[in-house]
Amino acid sequence: MDRHSAEPQVREIPSEKAKRWVEYHHQFSAPSTYVYEFVWDITDEAEGPFCTDVDGNVLMDFTSHVASAPLGYNNPKIVDKLREFDLVDPTKIAGQDFYTSGGWPPEDPEFPGPAQLMDRLTDVTSQYDMDTVFLSNSGAEAVENAIKICYQSGGHRAFTFDGAFHGRTLGALSLNRSKRAHRKGYPEIPGVVSVPYCSCDDVCECGWKTNGPGGNPIADKLDPEQGVIDPEEVAFLILESVQGEGGYRVPNEEFVRDLADIRERFDVNVVVDEIQAGMGRTGEMWGVDHLDLEPDVITSAKGLRVGATISRSDVFPEETGRLSSTWGAGDVVSSLQGALTLDAIEEHDLLGNAVERGRQARERIADADPANVVDVRGRGLLIALEFDTKERREAVVEAALKRGLLTLGCGYKTLRVLPPLDVTEREIDLGMDLLFDAIEDVA
Ligand SMILES: Cc1ncc(COP(=O)(O)O)c(C=O)c1O
Repeated sequence: MDRHSAEPQVREIPSEKAKRWVEYHHQFSAPSTYVYEFVWDITDEAEGPFCTDVDGNVLMDFTSHVASAPLGYNNPKIVDKLREFDLVDPTKIAGQDFYTSGGWPPEDPEFPGPAQLMDRLTDVTSQYDMDTVFLSNSGAEAVENAIKICYQSGGHRAFTFDGAFHGRTLGALSLNRSKRAHRKGYPEIPGVVSVPYCSCDDVCECGWKTNGPGGNPIADKLDPEQGVIDPEEVAFLILESVQGEGGYRVPNEEFVRDLADIRERFDVNVVVDEIQAGMGRTGEMWGVDHLDLEPDVITSAKGLRVGATISRSDVFPEETGRLSSTWGAGDVVSSLQGALTLDAIEEHDLLGNAVERGRQARERIADADPANVVDVRGRGLLIALEFDTKERREAVVEAALKRGLLTLGCGYKTLRVLPPLDVTEREIDLGMDLLFDAIEDVA
């Protein structure tokens, strides 16, 4: 397959083999989130956004595995390095208990591992004075550990935002406010208060702005005279720099300024969840880099291939044994991939590419003015089209798939588009043509 000339080619989807795979999978699998019957064939050709499914259909993947494959399929920088690397056994190093070397010297070995990944992560968070990382296995664990380290500051309460998604472990799910299924009936950590996530255009209509003593629900609650929560009791507030599951909502600037003010006045730790919006997706390394807000903790995962809780050393516990995870740094390949992905972002100016190609996609959408799209949101290559109804969104996702374009739903009636960070001009045009065709067909 040559990425420069590849085009989606679909005979029938889902086809016979895909159906068999899906049926087989579900004989053993607990119900989870399955979006559609697309079965990627890892033994067949794939490059950049193009991949081949089990029935030989060539598809264009504009989901990047929900931002978990930021460089798309078979990126040569990653694959060539992996080819050089004779896999060893054990491939997993019992994380925090053992050290490994991938060559010499530690600062620049031939094969970067967990230590080099942490080194790079502190480089890309140094603007926030972050110097310490805890690696884990997933986004939920990165959040779980953010919760734990913030509890160290003494408080036991937290603020989260309407529409939030932070993962499915018990601590993380207590902070979710997007879909009912995430929390319904499960025990939750106590003391979590939810408030609106303001993404209003001009006039605030979401309830963030209040006539109370603080002018917003958090400051009202923490107000020294009239508030009901002692700021000392608050361990953290947590927000996504752009809401993911909640519908790709970009925060309003004034709302962000209010949060910065709350951090300053009440000394509340700000945790920014970058699990979906980070790793260059928005055109900055972290979504929070667009905002006038200083995070105390950043959580990352997905495209990083492992979970990471990043902060200043004074926020982390000093005592050993408080944080640990056997497979925390993933296998030897995971940390290597995370580190190489960060390198590729820098080396190939993929932040600049995310800005440029994101602009191109938005311009195409504005020019096409597709039917029944009521809003277009996002930043960089994190793009969302909101439809008039949920049914319409679902029909468009399906119609796009039939044409060979993979997209995803989010929020209630929003469709998200997440091309790889190195997507080309031709590929954006191809993908947008397929999307508009699908929208027209559904209309
Ligand atoms: C913003 C955000 N936080 C946390 C998570 C949880 O990550 P994981 O599924 O790796 O546990 C996700 C996953 O979609 C996410 O989008």
